[in-house]
Amino acid sequence: MAPPTQSDLAIRALTASDVHTIRSLHSSTLPVHYPPAFFTQLLVLPSRACLIAVPRSKPNIPIAFISAALHKSSVPSLPVPKALDSPRPRIEILTLGVLPAYQHMGIARRLVAAVVEKLCGPLSAGIVAHANVSTVNSTAIKFYQSIGLCVSSDVIPNLYRTCSYGHRDAYLVAGRLDDL
Ligand SMILES: CC(C)(COP(=O)(O)OP(=O)(O)OC[C@H]1O[C@@H](n2cnc3c(N)ncnc32)[C@H](O)[C@@H]1OP(=O)(O)O)[C@@H](O)C(=O)NCCC(=O)NCCS
Repeated sequence: MAPPTQSDLAIRALTASDVHTIRSLHSSTLPVHYPPAFFTQLLVLPSRACLIAVPRSKPNIPIAFISAALHKSSVPSLPVPKALDSPRPRIEILTLGVLPAYQHMGIARRLVAAVVEKLCGPLSAGIVAHANVSTVNSTAIKFYQSIGLCVSSDVIPNLYRTCSYGHRDAYLVAGRLDDL
């Protein structure tokens, strides 16, 4: 059978009936435990969004996901890179994962573009985005760099307290999404 291609997939918003499956997909692709309340707030808060990628032939079987939050004021008590030290709205990527069989097809990049458009509208080029990434997750670090984000030199110790395996320290990655 031919390997799947981008055009075999559709991207759509998470619905309540996807929550059980998408929670399992988070558990199988990420080492952090996300409680049911995390998914409920993605469904109900207008400043949050979760998009899933599904094969057109199996629209109830997600193979990738992204969740994100739109923040309208300036940031956190984190070591803040210049890109985040601004009153402009910014997107925080909360979770992102693609099943291994579907990686390296541009799906994560497409999901980032889609979630930015959903939260910020079509004229969102140049929006600032940020995420936390485990210091040992070189694949994700390379992915974020490929979409224009820079890795902060500071390590956030023990960020992933509920991490079920792997390393708990994280980097902040941040920058402008100019060319998705
Ligand atoms: C990180 C992850 C989401 C990337 O998803 P993906 O759909 O494979 O990424 P894309 O195909 O959109 O990649 C876009 C670019 O990112 C970079 N990239 C992605 N994976 C890479 C890898 N393993 N090595 C080097 N560069 C990589 C490349 O520059 C790639 O562009 P190219 O294909 O033109 O070379 C995926 O590997 C994943 O789900 N990993 C497990 C979960 C995870 O770590 N999530 C992030 C938590 S912070």
